[in-house]
Amino acid sequence: MKKTKVLLPFILFLLVLVATRAQEQTPIPEVEELLGKMTLQEKIGQLNLVTPGGGIATGAVVSENVEAKIKAGQVGALFGIAGPEKIKKAQEYAVNETRLGIPLFFGSDIIHGYRTTFPIPLGLSSSWDMDLIGEVARISASEATADGINWNFSPMVDIARDPRWGRVAEGAGEDPYLGSAIAQAMVKGYQGADLTAANTMIACVKHFALYGAPEAGRDYNSVDMGRLKMYNQYLPPYKAAIDAGVASVMTSFNDVDGIPATGNKWLLTELLRNEWGFNGFVVSDYTSVGEMIEHGMGDMQQVSALALKAGLDMDMVSEGLLNTLEKSVDQDIVSEEEITNACRRILEAKYKLGLFEDPYRYINPKRAKKEILTQENRKTAREFAARSFVLLKNHNEILPLKKEAKIALVGPLADSRSNMLGTWSPTGKHELAVTIIEGFRNVAPKAKINYAKGSNIVDDKDYAKRINVFGQRIDIDKRSPEIMLREAIEAAEASDVVVTVVGEATEMSGESSSRTDISIPEEQKKLIRAMVATGKPVVLVLMSGRPLTIPEEFELPVSILQVWHPGIEAGNAIADVVFGDYNPSGKLTSTWPRNIGQIPIYHSMKRTGRPSSTPDAYEKFKSNYLDVSNAPLIPFGFGLSYTKFAYSDLKVSKNEIGFGEDLDVSVTVKNTGDMDGEEVVQLYLRDVVRSVTPPGKQLKGFKKIFLKKGETKRVTLTLRPDDLKFYNSSLEFVAEPGDFEVFVGTNSEKTLKTGFTLKK
Ligand code: BGC
Repeated sequence: MKKTKVLLPFILFLLVLVATRAQEQTPIPEVEELLGKMTLQEKIGQLNLVTPGGGIATGAVVSENVEAKIKAGQVGALFGIAGPEKIKKAQEYAVNETRLGIPLFFGSDIIHGYRTTFPIPLGLSSSWDMDLIGEVARISASEATADGINWNFSPMVDIARDPRWGRVAEGAGEDPYLGSAIAQAMVKGYQGADLTAANTMIACVKHFALYGAPEAGRDYNSVDMGRLKMYNQYLPPYKAAIDAGVASVMTSFNDVDGIPATGNKWLLTELLRNEWGFNGFVVSDYTSVGEMIEHGMGDMQQVSALALKAGLDMDMVSEGLLNTLEKSVDQDIVSEEEITNACRRILEAKYKLGLFEDPYRYINPKRAKKEILTQENRKTAREFAARSFVLLKNHNEILPLKKEAKIALVGPLADSRSNMLGTWSPTGKHELAVTIIEGFRNVAPKAKINYAKGSNIVDDKDYAKRINVFGQRIDIDKRSPEIMLREAIEAAEASDVVVTVVGEATEMSGESSSRTDISIPEEQKKLIRAMVATGKPVVLVLMSGRPLTIPEEFELPVSILQVWHPGIEAGNAIADVVFGDYNPSGKLTSTWPRNIGQIPIYHSMKRTGRPSSTPDAYEKFKSNYLDVSNAPLIPFGFGLSYTKFAYSDLKVSKNEIGFGEDLDVSVTVKNTGDMDGEEVVQLYLRDVVRSVTPPGKQLKGFKKIFLKKGETKRVTLTLRPDDLKFYNSSLEFVAEPGDFEVFVGTNSEKTLKTGFTLKK
């Protein structure tokens, strides 16, 4: 008896030890041997990530004396340079001129394609096509590695429910289920099955964590969120990337529970490593170590120690770790072991990439010439761009247009090359993008095209200057707005149909591009109104990096094709859809609000204790607004096709299931229109009663199908046990018995309904 009492705590201790060890990487002998030879300074050097500022520098600071620092063993990785020659030179400094010859990583932001630029991520997410998204990542990795880069600062998986935030463009929208699927597809696409292969690279999931929920939609702003919302809504895509084996994680600029993410031990160690079992390395965002001084966390030495102790391994550009850690060791603020642990994780990643075996593995001028921006990749970019577009309205079914039509092609984005690629495309080349007018001429050479600019993107010179930081995106015409408008009216009057290309310039969304008014700028609205006033049929091709508020345009007798920023093949892809060579199949991955006041608005909002019985009519003492309906302007999952789909006969395979059982949900979908087409069949779930208030409904399945005209298919979606689970108030991931409602349909609001019971 006594013996058991004594032994029990010991056994428990052993079990805990085994469980923790299980998550750790098995030591790599080569790395351990190297660590044994390294001085403290050399270890600290590995924690330093620098940029000479060749790409887009996203902060006020760029690193200085990069060459000297590499030679002095003070650099572990470099970003912002590309090309076999440059990278070879930098690698030679590290390999030949430092004592231990440890090779560098070469990082970059390849957010939606390397040289072959694909649509912005928000656009790609609208395809709901995981194979397509995986293929974008695979092509990005193969082009980037051909140019010497082996570490990608992507995927960005921040859930974003506030379209004022400009970086909504870089992610997959509002939903954690879809966001998780996309995170996994991207990680697998970049990293492939073998990280040592010359055409795969290390991915970096970012921005950990919650960067997509800044207060007031203002970039870099504070985030304050309860754990339940965090675990259920915002953390799943990061975890999905970890589960897919992502090799690195980037911290975010914001604070989480009052502690900046970069110095947040709960986040970087307890959650990421201990709970989720991540065993790769963690890098800060651009100068986010140093920015903790502004956050109010202390001086450079204090914040650097805070970051290291929290679980950060690599410091992007601040050089706080480089310059203060030795002193902190002397003063017993940090231990050498903590530095060794961070260094180990970086060396392990270098080992996994195969850099110790061959530091020049990714440097091959022949590949660079042959594999970047191939005709085949451009063809894929064109096809994928068309698949990212969302048809929001097709008034009088005016689309697709006839290829022989007389078309007025108007608007400030109709002939603008520099706005086609979209935000975060520093490795792309704007000069190579296809404009819309070029695309129209390529696809419909017999069409008579009357072009007129019609308006500026904005008339305000100061605003234009802010947008033009990375080059001329808004170019204010010498002609007066009145003359431009007149020209557009004349072009419209001389044509059968008007295509008006309007929306946001590339840098009106993206980093540090928050807007408090997300409507189409007034200058362009005037153009739209004038085009409608001509009485000609009007198509709006709407370009943006975010959901916009378009209540006025949505009510007008116009057709609207949302094209995001489509990438290098923009014009061709748009023409393919406008002229019907491709039937649009995209669906929104964010809810589009009626006005700014509705934000945040998303499909999985909770019902509250006072739900309104109808979203449209005001009811006193219900959760609604005096001045606007609760319903969004356009719901999550919405997108039309040139054909029509009819849903019927929704069934579940069983009315009752037990814990751990799958459930099949099937529905019949018929293409009732006149064209072949694709449809994204969507499944939403509502847990009717549970221990923490459930979302009204939440996406839990989808399938993209192709149906020939007249064809009918029975579509089955399988609900897995995890799909019924959620984090309860003890943060346990559980399913609770009771009734579930199942909704299946063409978007989050237009659905058929059935249900089942999860037995006790
Ligand atoms: C961005 C990151 C990016 C980094 C390096 C930062 O400003 O937030 O997403 O990876 O710069 O370019």
